[in-house]
Amino acid sequence: MPATIIMGGQWGDEGKGKLTDALAGRADLMIRANGGSNAGHTVTTSAGVFKFHLVPSGILNPDCVCVIGAGVVVDAPSLVGELNGLLVRGISIDRLVLSDRAHLVLPYHPIIDTLEEVAREEDQIGTTRRGNGPAYADKVSRRGIRVGDLRRPETLRKVVGGAVAEHNEILTRFYGAPALDPASVIDELEQAAQFLRPFIQSSETVAQDAMAEGKYALIECAQAAMLDIDYGTYPYVTSSSPTAAGACQGAGIAPTQVDRVIAVFKAYTSRVGGGPMPTELIDATGDLIGERGREYGRSTGRPRRTGWFDGVAARQAARLNGVTEVNLSVLDVLDVMEEIKICTAYDIDGELTTAVPSAVDEYARAQPVYESIRGWKADLTGARSISDLPDGAREYISTLERVIGAPITMVGVGPGREQLVPLTDWAAIQHIAPTR
Ligand code: GDP
Ligand code: IMO
Ligand code: MG
Repeated sequence: MPATIIMGGQWGDEGKGKLTDALAGRADLMIRANGGSNAGHTVTTSAGVFKFHLVPSGILNPDCVCVIGAGVVVDAPSLVGELNGLLVRGISIDRLVLSDRAHLVLPYHPIIDTLEEVAREEDQIGTTRRGNGPAYADKVSRRGIRVGDLRRPETLRKVVGGAVAEHNEILTRFYGAPALDPASVIDELEQAAQFLRPFIQSSETVAQDAMAEGKYALIECAQAAMLDIDYGTYPYVTSSSPTAAGACQGAGIAPTQVDRVIAVFKAYTSRVGGGPMPTELIDATGDLIGERGREYGRSTGRPRRTGWFDGVAARQAARLNGVTEVNLSVLDVLDVMEEIKICTAYDIDGELTTAVPSAVDEYARAQPVYESIRGWKADLTGARSISDLPDGAREYISTLERVIGAPITMVGVGPGREQLVPLTDWAAIQHIAPTR
């Protein structure tokens, strides 16, 4: 059986958690592929709101094995906190698998993340300061410590002790910051290790054995295409690959095992942190979108920047990731608009382009070229099928399909599980795991 990838098409927070939860009921296995505690994925159910940082958003489904894949960086005490939070709410975590190849975020990583940000002064990336960038940097420079080491207390003591001493040099000599106490770092990690040990496995073996048995896997990316380390707005990006290719790598699923790439796009744009955002609205319309969309970061509580839909960036995301279909989220947020704009090209220094520039200073000069449609001025939150959508909303959807270059198969009209309107047959959308 094939696998489906769910990824963000813009700058994050598109509603990946909500879609993952909606499809997890038909998947046997779901795998978080990249990122770490910098992600914040929200699932709203009748039992309340769940916010996931490291735990796959499918965990609410009782039949789905939930894997934290090799491409994720894991802050072990944070993961324990998140899992305990689920246990308190009566959610079973027995089906969790934690990859032994995933790298650990250690206490010096968030400190270095913060010190690096402060040193950037007015050029801050606006990271979540969760230590993701420094943890991935250690991974790539081959001095990272992996989750598998949590299984071996003696090795853990040795490697963590050495790593703390090494990073203390950076903290004290380079930044003039206080050193960390290796013994307390090891103790805290050992406590987390005791909780996490039963979940640690070869996640790629779990994934491949399941695929060989004809099971269906859903891969959940964190972050989004425009935050990708290679194709995003570098250096204002995250430190992993939140792409379809990165999803395969991080999940231990081969590209040839994937048959669907679902990108979640907001009906407008939001961005949290620094970096170019050509369609940003620093005006009353931007504020209105922010208020109606409750645009505050799930991880940090920071207000998100808002603006019109950026079709240039969206088209690049669809092309580079082989997006087969789109979930258009938060359409209801635009219910009150008189006019809705869609950026279809950039004007950079008087030249029109439909390509995303690689140089961030050039990108920062991009002025959006807009197409406009009239707003539908109706409440969509109660819509449950395509026939409930007014003509104006349908026109917006078909315009976006043309601009993005991929079919929109679902639209979100509110945060609730039931507020996901299929534009084609819902069974076809859920065609994963037809045996169930
Ligand atoms: P993720 O990081 O991609 O999983 O997205 P987040 O959870 O960070 O942010 C999406 C926010 O939008 C959450 O608060 C969701 O509850 C909310 N949301 C998702 N879909 C919709 C929708 O269709 N309409 C509205 N109004 N809110 C939505
Ligand atoms: P989800 O999965 C939105 C942004 C940060 C910052 C940049 C780098 O919830 O969509 P990092 O901490 O990764 O080094 O920060 O990336 N960022 C996100 N923005 N949603 C996210 O995750 C994000 N994860 C990181 O704001 O601009
Ligand atoms: Mg989020």
